[in-house]
Amino acid sequence: MGVPLVPGLDRRVRIFPDLGAASGALARHLRESARASARERGRFSLVLSGGRTPVDLFHRLGRSGPRSWPWRDVEVFFADERCVPARSADSNFGSAWNAFLSRVPIPRRRVHRMRGELAPPSEAARRYGRLLGAMPRPGTGEPRFDAVLLGIGPDGHTASLFPDSPAVREPRAAVVPVVRSPVPPFVPRLTLTPAALSSAREVCFLVAGNDKAGALDRTFRASSRGDPRSPASCIRPDGPTTWFLDRAAAGRLAPGAA
Ligand code: 6PG
Repeated sequence: MGVPLVPGLDRRVRIFPDLGAASGALARHLRESARASARERGRFSLVLSGGRTPVDLFHRLGRSGPRSWPWRDVEVFFADERCVPARSADSNFGSAWNAFLSRVPIPRRRVHRMRGELAPPSEAARRYGRLLGAMPRPGTGEPRFDAVLLGIGPDGHTASLFPDSPAVREPRAAVVPVVRSPVPPFVPRLTLTPAALSSAREVCFLVAGNDKAGALDRTFRASSRGDPRSPASCIRPDGPTTWFLDRAAAGRLAPGAA
């Protein structure tokens, strides 16, 4: 655990009996990262992913009081969003808001929802890209974000970067539209690109379930080069990538990969 396994890639793997244990460990990990970042830089910028896997984690964060987290210094962004209203059951923002963001004292002006339903997806992507561009950077060459939280789909997608898609190959933009989603909900989406998601001091993946085991194995095998067919392998942060896994998701990793 915590030992770089692939030359040039600081990949750390932590395997837990179940999603609850992995979520608890990740909640503690993020709390320590937030405290250190607030102490050293007076801020902690966190990018949240969507889907079902992080909901337990969001509830745990939502129960964390101001004595444990420096909420006043936290700023929240989203890795991707479905172009639906915030109150839709398909909204990644809605899921994080209900379980977590509405329950902690993060200044509301520091929670940045992707407003994908308020404009054509390409315009909404441009707007969010401008918001990111206006973010104060701690210093030249410093990463955009302090921590990025991601999941992975059974096909290997992460955020809304689908295998072999134009979005996963985007060389410049920070945010792009995804007009047709190959996985439900079949609505247009916005997503941060690999370049934007990689501009982070650390990336944490939370992955659970047998249905992710194949994608995880393919991603680990592709990680040394970054393969657009395994989009999660294209997320290469400045600092470590830590994988919080349950045993089921880790079930097909090659010996020594974890
Ligand atoms: C999304 C998510 C997506 C998610 C994976 C895993 O908008 O759908 O950002 O990338 O992390 O699809 O989803 P589950 O956690 O629901 O399996």
